[in-house]
Amino acid sequence: MGPVMAKRTLLVALLIGALLMGAFAAGRDADAGWSKDEIAQLQSLWIGNQAPLPADPSNRVADDPRARALGRALFFDTRLSANGQVACATCHLPERQFQDDRARARGVGDTARRTMPLAGVAHNAWFFWDGRKDSLWSQALGPLESAVEHGIDRTRVMHLVRKHHLASYEAVFGPMPVTGPLPQRAGPQSDEAGRAAWNALPDSDRVAINTVFANVGKAIAAYERQIRFGPSRFDRYVEAVLHGREPGADARLTADERAGLKLFIGRAQCTQCHNGPLFSDSHFHNTGVPAVKDLPADAGRASAITAVLADEFNCLGRYSDAKPSQCSELRFMSKDTHQLTRAYKPPTLRNVALRPPYMHAGQYATLEEVLDHYSRAPQSPAGHSEIKPLRLSQRERRQLIAFLGTLSGPVLVAPESAPQATKLSSASGGL
Ligand code: HEC
Ligand code: HEC
Repeated sequence: MGPVMAKRTLLVALLIGALLMGAFAAGRDADAGWSKDEIAQLQSLWIGNQAPLPADPSNRVADDPRARALGRALFFDTRLSANGQVACATCHLPERQFQDDRARARGVGDTARRTMPLAGVAHNAWFFWDGRKDSLWSQALGPLESAVEHGIDRTRVMHLVRKHHLASYEAVFGPMPVTGPLPQRAGPQSDEAGRAAWNALPDSDRVAINTVFANVGKAIAAYERQIRFGPSRFDRYVEAVLHGREPGADARLTADERAGLKLFIGRAQCTQCHNGPLFSDSHFHNTGVPAVKDLPADAGRASAITAVLADEFNCLGRYSDAKPSQCSELRFMSKDTHQLTRAYKPPTLRNVALRPPYMHAGQYATLEEVLDHYSRAPQSPAGHSEIKPLRLSQRERRQLIAFLGTLSGPVLVAPESAPQATKLSSASGGL
């Protein structure tokens, strides 16, 4: 055997060795030792287990493609703001999972809460950190009239839609309602002059303005309904486990990631609240997250209960398209203000590693700080925290963080049944 042959034999031997080791590692992967119960838990978190988009009977245009196109135009339109510079997309950036990476959002002024990411949002029953809105369309009306977000009022919204979106509005909702001459600014959430102008309007004009305002929300909601998550490495791994297959190269979890997953569904009890394919139960929990100094007191869900019941744009209100019997979430919601003090909606954990900071007011800058919180379980500044100290070792924290990293995947905007979803890698390509 010449030196060239020997070299080649060595190479072949090395190659076979590497393949065998790969197979061995993969074999261990498949045999990660998941119990039957654990496999059922993995399946419940799997994206393949996501229920179809729930119908929204309060919004008759929720799945109308023309409403979706109008909603998309409105979502990106900075003209719908006091300074001409703020659109929904200013805080909900499509290329950043529809959030803004800030601890507290900034519109025409400073807000007291963190911008929420929007993928999968239509699967929720309640909206905002405290759930003070009971539909996606009604939610959209809040930021428009907030003095620190878009900073305009509903009469101004009607003027702007007439001016810039009349044809597409009328194609979806029919003719713009007829009113008497309207002031430039008027609304019940406006400043003193705006409120006085609103109170001076005849009832019929107020109803007309409210109808257009609600329709703007319904179109925006039709767009937002299409924002969803694509599969992550975690989902491909679970799929392989469910089929008893070796996970392929893009579906493997490291030993640390698997250990983190085991903790997540086991001893750390994270799935008590972060469950289902969105890793959120969409209910409200006090987890003892500290208050932010200098911000007004925040009672969370406890103060949202009266707000959503009194909201003229709720499911039972005259601008809703639902029958009262279709509003069971609102009619049968829990009103236990004691238990719900400083309770917030668990955010989805999909893509969580890619979007610090964390919590409803950006209290924590890193996932290390979040895991430290769950490890210590501090007392809540008000009400009672539901969590107990987990006393996680440094190693366990590292493993849980490693697992959370496996939940990163694409954010897509397209009808669920469309053959080609648009992947949001660039700023606004093909939304
Ligand atoms: C100034 C930044 C800002 C602007 C502008 C803004 N948002 Fe938000 N958005 C936020 C913040 C902050 C929250 C959480 C607020 C809270 O809980 O009080 C939020 C929450 C939401 C939620 C709730 C998500 C969930 O899971 O419950 C939706 C949906 C949403 N915004 C859509 C919109 C739409 C539609 C618009 C435009 C009409 C808009 N936002 C404009 C910052 C903004
Ligand atoms: C009792 C319910 C509950 C349990 C148990 C729970 N969480 Fe949470 N989680 C929440 C709520 C509620 C929030 C939002 C709290 C807030 O903003 O004040 C949250 C926020 C988070 C966030 C921040 C996400 C973001 O976008 O801000 C992460 C990460 C997280 N939880 C991970 C975990 C992990 C890991 C575990 C297990 C160790 C766990 N959670 C256990 C309810 C829970």
